[in-house]
Amino acid sequence: MGNEFVKLNEINMLFSEGTAALREVSLSFSGNAFTAVIGPSGSGKSTLMRLINGLLRPTSGQVFVGDMEIARAPERLVRQTRRRIGMVFQQFNLVRRLTALENVLVGRLGELDPLRSTLR
Ligand SMILES: Nc1ncnc2c1ncn2[C@@H]1O[C@H](COP(=O)(O)OP(=O)(O)OP(=O)(O)O)[C@@H](O)[C@H]1O
Ligand SMILES: [Mg+2]
Repeated sequence: MGNEFVKLNEINMLFSEGTAALREVSLSFSGNAFTAVIGPSGSGKSTLMRLINGLLRPTSGQVFVGDMEIARAPERLVRQTRRRIGMVFQQFNLVRRLTALENVLVGRLGELDPLRSTLR
């Protein structure tokens, strides 16, 4: 695996209405770098994130997180991996009474037992 933590291999993502959100995208993110993906509205940034954490399956191509191909892995392993990926949704999904830091940490709640997560 080396330093390549996330790898996309010739990804195409077509939505049912025929929108091609991503076309032939190949790229990799190293596990020890800070990477920003920027682009205009509708260029596919959120779609890219959803593919990486397994919320979407690509129309074709492969997404690897470490050695695991997300679309072929058992759901249990995908969920385990998703716990290691913090994602703040773009709209409506921030918890208003929490701070920005706490909103980001919500992604880690799956690591705690229910009592500790309830007691924060
Ligand atoms: N669930 C969906 N069904 C159909 N089309 C979608 C869906 N999600 C995204 N798209 C389309 O895919 C393209 C990429 O959208 P995406 O949300 O990934 O862009 P983005 O780069 O995150 O944009 P923004 O900067 O506005 O957040 C757009 O044309 C969008 O309309
Ligand atoms: Mg977006």
